[in-house]
Amino acid sequence: MCFLLALNVGTPPEMLEEESQLKHVLPTSLEANSLKKSNWGFLFTGIIGGTVVAVYALATPFITPALRKICLPFVPATTRQVENVVQMLRCRRGSLVDIGSGDGRIVIAAAKEGFTAVGYELNPWLVWYSRYRAWREGVHGSAKFYISDLWKVTFSQYSNVVIFGVPQMMPQLEKKLELELEDDARVIACRFPFPHWIPDHVTGEGIDTVWAYDMSTFRGNQKRPRKLMHL
Ligand SMILES: C[S@@+](CC[C@H](N)C(=O)[O-])C[C@H]1O[C@@H](n2cnc3c(N)ncnc32)[C@H](O)[C@@H]1O
Repeated sequence: MCFLLALNVGTPPEMLEEESQLKHVLPTSLEANSLKKSNWGFLFTGIIGGTVVAVYALATPFITPALRKICLPFVPATTRQVENVVQMLRCRRGSLVDIGSGDGRIVIAAAKEGFTAVGYELNPWLVWYSRYRAWREGVHGSAKFYISDLWKVTFSQYSNVVIFGVPQMMPQLEKKLELELEDDARVIACRFPFPHWIPDHVTGEGIDTVWAYDMSTFRGNQKRPRKLMHL
């Protein structure tokens, strides 16, 4: 302090004032600079963080099916495959379900053919996109999509069932449908057939092959045991 006072001895008062102003101005501008830098830092971190969260939210529903015990990834049906499914639906009517409906192309194609069509799909992005597609194509009244796990849905109310699955799931699905479907139901399998059922019709080639199974043929004289109603 004494040293500082000693330094100021003989300094004109205007200069002292200027000096004291500088003392105030300099740190403030430095502060402003570092504030600007930290603002950019925050913005940058925010953008990176936001992007990571957005990519994670978008990608997770597409990746998780691959991590399940039965890996059923999103692989859309080819145009020919959709045409083959529609061909198997000729002379059929009523309700239809696509198990694992992806981007909704089968359900929308069926709705255009006059079916009341429903899709169950685990991936919410695909369900929202399917709803948008159905609305854009003018069939949102007869094409509905639900976010659901196919193993937790009962398909008994559907008379037409479409599945584009993977070989690992077909034995389990075969048992489930056998228990649930009515005798007049038709099941259409794309790309991979059921292991034990004998198809009534087959159409297409290679990856576009489609198999149709009629429950009536399959069950023969043995009708599905009806559930007992408790009155
Ligand atoms: C092979 S893609 C078929 C898509 C559509 N059916 C088509 O033919 O274009 C199978 C679909 O099933 C969905 N999926 C996988 N596991 C599922 C589950 N447990 N419940 C419902 N959907 C599931 C996947 O997200 C994927 O969209």
